[in-house]
Amino acid sequence: MTVETVGGAPRPLHPEIDEAMIERLVRHFYARIRRTPDLGPIFEAVVQDRWEPHLRIMMDFWSSVMLMSGRFKGQPMQRHQALRALRPEHFQTWLALFSSSANEICPPDIAALFVDRAERIARSLQLGMFGPPELSLARRKEAP
Ligand code: HEM
Repeated sequence: MTVETVGGAPRPLHPEIDEAMIERLVRHFYARIRRTPDLGPIFEAVVQDRWEPHLRIMMDFWSSVMLMSGRFKGQPMQRHQALRALRPEHFQTWLALFSSSANEICPPDIAALFVDRAERIARSLQLGMFGPPELSLARRKEAP
């Protein structure tokens, strides 16, 4: 496995994760996203005919997260903040689809690592975009 690194060797979160697995997962996940009624149109409106470059960016992103390759140089918070149609409930659909895709492509222990990272990043994106989660608002409302 050859991985570009910044400042030394890559440190995979699991020895069996490699670029080929990341590519399979990214392609599978976004093929499903594009067929999902509430998420597909949000992507199509922005990505348009640039799907291959978008998939390459997402491979760099997951390579940075799972292999610590340092390849991703984007600005996810700014990009998602610019998506005016994005609502908190879209994240639930995204995560459910990501979890089933990861379990279809990867062994269960590796799928769990991908999902854990995706959930953490989704939480931080939501916090930046919408403030504290709705759950805490609902809890406050229910409080006596
Ligand atoms: C609510 C569900 C989501 C939707 C509808 C969505 C949609 C999009 C779209 C349309 C883009 C392209 C933006 C552009 O090129 O200007 C994008 C980029 C990206 N998304 Fe998401 N996203 C979602 C959730 C997530 C989550 C949970 C993650 C991470 C785990 C993520 C990671 C990224 C990354 C890394 C980029 C590239 C950012 C960059 O180029 O700087 N997204 N997303």
